[in-house]
Amino acid sequence: MAEQTYYIDEDTGEDSSLQNGTDDLPYKSLAYAVYVHGGSAKFLTRKSLTGEIPEGAEASARLEWKPAPKSALKKAVNMAAARKKKEEKEQQQLEMRLKADADRKKVLDEAKKIVLTEDKSLPTPIRIKLDDTDPEKIQLGDGAEKKGTRVRVFGRVHRERRQKEVMFVTLRDGYGFMQVILQGDLAKTYDALTLTRETSMEILGELREVPAGAHAPNNRELHADYYVIHAGGKAAGGDDAITNRVSKDTEHATLLDLRHLTLRGENASKVMIVRDAVEFAFNTVYKELRMRKVSPPALVQTQVEGGATLFKFQYYTEEAYLTQSSQLYLETCLPSMGDVYCIEKSFRAEKSLTRRHLSEYSHIEAELDFITFDDLLNHLEHVMCRVLEVTMSDPTIKQYILDLNPEFQMPERPFKRMKYSEAIDWLVEHNIPNEEGHPHKFGDDIAEAAERRMTDIINRPIFLTHFPTEIKAFYMQRDPQDPRVTESVDCLMPGVGEIVGGSMRMYDYEELMAAFAREGIDPKPYYWYTDQRKYGSSPHGGYGLGLERFLAWLCKQHTVRDCCLYPRYFGRCKP
Ligand code: 4AD
Repeated sequence: MAEQTYYIDEDTGEDSSLQNGTDDLPYKSLAYAVYVHGGSAKFLTRKSLTGEIPEGAEASARLEWKPAPKSALKKAVNMAAARKKKEEKEQQQLEMRLKADADRKKVLDEAKKIVLTEDKSLPTPIRIKLDDTDPEKIQLGDGAEKKGTRVRVFGRVHRERRQKEVMFVTLRDGYGFMQVILQGDLAKTYDALTLTRETSMEILGELREVPAGAHAPNNRELHADYYVIHAGGKAAGGDDAITNRVSKDTEHATLLDLRHLTLRGENASKVMIVRDAVEFAFNTVYKELRMRKVSPPALVQTQVEGGATLFKFQYYTEEAYLTQSSQLYLETCLPSMGDVYCIEKSFRAEKSLTRRHLSEYSHIEAELDFITFDDLLNHLEHVMCRVLEVTMSDPTIKQYILDLNPEFQMPERPFKRMKYSEAIDWLVEHNIPNEEGHPHKFGDDIAEAAERRMTDIINRPIFLTHFPTEIKAFYMQRDPQDPRVTESVDCLMPGVGEIVGGSMRMYDYEELMAAFAREGIDPKPYYWYTDQRKYGSSPHGGYGLGLERFLAWLCKQHTVRDCCLYPRYFGRCKP
């Protein structure tokens, strides 16, 4: 049989099954021609549009077919062989996949036939939470003679893994984690084979010690004898699986959009659980100090901390604001209730994005009657340290705090006390400039960055006191020793900066009126506040502590946004 000839035109040819390699329908590449027809045919090539024309020849010389050079042919043969091999491999993989799918379908169809039933001859299970280790009701079996307590637990699949015929499920219920072992038919049901993270389950079984050398929460594992996934309990899988929606690589903004899912993560839930404990500890400590909790209004018509951060809204036919602080209302409670406190939301229209500013935050505020400025500082130090003590007295909470902040140590007492004027000197000595880039001078507001640098270098809690009148709120009492400054305090913590702001309050009626005038605030709407100075005034003071900032410090969180449930800040009011 005569040797077949195939034509390759590198400019006008095409590597497609619509071509047949004749000079009318040439291919584009030699590799393709060899791939289709094998390397033993004859191949003629040309570049009809861009090919070089030998000196003195006509342009038509480009149209001459020339045999493919040997080296090019060798290369094309290798390329064609590699391509064939790759295609064979892909075909094999496809077949294997199809077979695996078919096998899996068969396994799943079989699995659907397995129906679990509870063995009623087993001891009646007791219902427990996953962190329950009460030895009065729970014994751990050893897998031999010593039987463990049969329990009924509810929770969601936090993690799962399969080892041959056995499935290990880590269940989570918000109180703790439990390792569950599914074996035999329990690991072969359709539900088991398709188990997804976050699926909610009811599981019954015997609690046993973990085998030597193995680790599990509370050193125990649940050997399941029965489980149910109730209607709706199965969590989404595939692309929609929780692991595909939130992971440690997900951007922070997306994590916040998906905060309802992020909150299920170990760190986020620990912060929220510590938050609950801290809030409870504040209530406990205030009760120890015989302070009364009150609940001032959130919808107000007066400002406390300057007009710039007021959220205004239409209150029926009048203008009103969301409260910036409950302080003024707390002051009015002193004559009737003694020392008071509240844990309420405060709202600030903060138009800057910083890691310590929220638009809505939890404000722990207290007001104390008949005190000196020194009493105020001592009280504040006591409350903060006692709250930490009470919080850390719960072993689970202590562990969570140490998981989040392994270097945490109880603050040293007494807290460092530093006057504003000393801080200015310190900043100058340490070459930390003010916001304009100049050395700090008396009267400057110490900006967030400078304040944080100073706190981080000093690296212990600081009571920064005696700020100049001009940079502090209108209601602050002047220092009798130095009328340029106020009896005011900010408590600064390493890593976060200011977490508390407080002061003695102006208690002289005329002086307060002069302060209103100086600030250009009409005192009329404040009659209920100024009357305090008309009907038995007293030296009193108080403070506000931002709960999210306290938590950011305690749990070593980069931002206060991760210390509240659904953070609100400039640009975010959802979900
Ligand atoms: O220093 P501030 O503005 O003081 C007051 O509101 C006083 N009237 C409180 C009082 O004496 N009863 O705020 C007090 C604390 C700050 O130290 C900070 O921890 C927190 O409230 N805070 C904020 N936290 C988060 N986001 C914001 N935008 C905050 N503004 C203040």
